[in-house]
Amino acid sequence: MMAAMPILETVHLTREAGGKKLVEDISVAVERAEVLAVAGPSGAGKSCLLRLLNRLDEPTSGTVYLEGKDYRALAPRELRRRVGMMTQMPYLFPGTVTENLRFGPRQQGKHLSGAEVDALLERVGLRQRAAHPVEHLSGGEAQRVSLARALANRPCVLLLDEPTSALDEGSKQEVETLILDVVRQNALTCIVVTHDMAQAARMADRVLLLKAGRLARIGGTREVLHAEGNLS
Ligand SMILES: Nc1ncnc2c1ncn2[C@@H]1O[C@H](COP(=O)(O)OP(=O)(O)OP(=O)(O)O)[C@@H](O)[C@H]1O
Ligand SMILES: [Mg+2]
Repeated sequence: MMAAMPILETVHLTREAGGKKLVEDISVAVERAEVLAVAGPSGAGKSCLLRLLNRLDEPTSGTVYLEGKDYRALAPRELRRRVGMMTQMPYLFPGTVTENLRFGPRQQGKHLSGAEVDALLERVGLRQRAAHPVEHLSGGEAQRVSLARALANRPCVLLLDEPTSALDEGSKQEVETLILDVVRQNALTCIVVTHDMAQAARMADRVLLLKAGRLARIGGTREVLHAEGNLS
């Protein structure tokens, strides 16, 4: 039987900067609709690895295959449309929620109608916020807009770098649940960096543990957390 093609595969992915290997020789295949958590100590290279996956950082060796195709063959803008990203602090520019949502599609020459904006906001639980200035949103609401903005591009992979770590306890859970709902409803493939092992256990199918830029362990979430003594 032929195995399904992984949606995203890194092959010997490496990034060196200032004589230091920030990410070293990472080869991992991620299946469609899988949620992979990336964990590891501060400075391990988790954010760097994520940024290599949509070429915000450039590999110094190795590469990434997106649906079987070397991602260097894709225009960076097309790559970043298909591989969306959400970070700890949302990158929103001053203006209304609608203006922020229309930005990405406009770069592809598409205009999001009012109804499409409303539908996106509905999906992230933010009704009646279309005309709201983003400066007036709460942290949790801003993260919802950030997610809606990624969804506006119809991505196939979502990269999440500590998407809830800047939020208070209440909105942390809400945003995490929302992300999981959206990921499952759309069968999105998701790679999520987190420091929170309980969050990794709730969200992920597998965990990749990164130490000093290298893959220290990868496996089922329970198995990895158990091996690392984080789960009884
Ligand atoms: N442009 C750069 N040039 C040189 N070193 C860098 C650069 N960017 C990051 N680093 C270093 O690379 C290493 C990995 O950084 P990275 O931000 O990926 O870690 P992280 O695992 O995301 O940490 P944290 O959990 O604190 O977010 C760190 O030692 C950092 O100081
Ligand atoms: Mg980081």
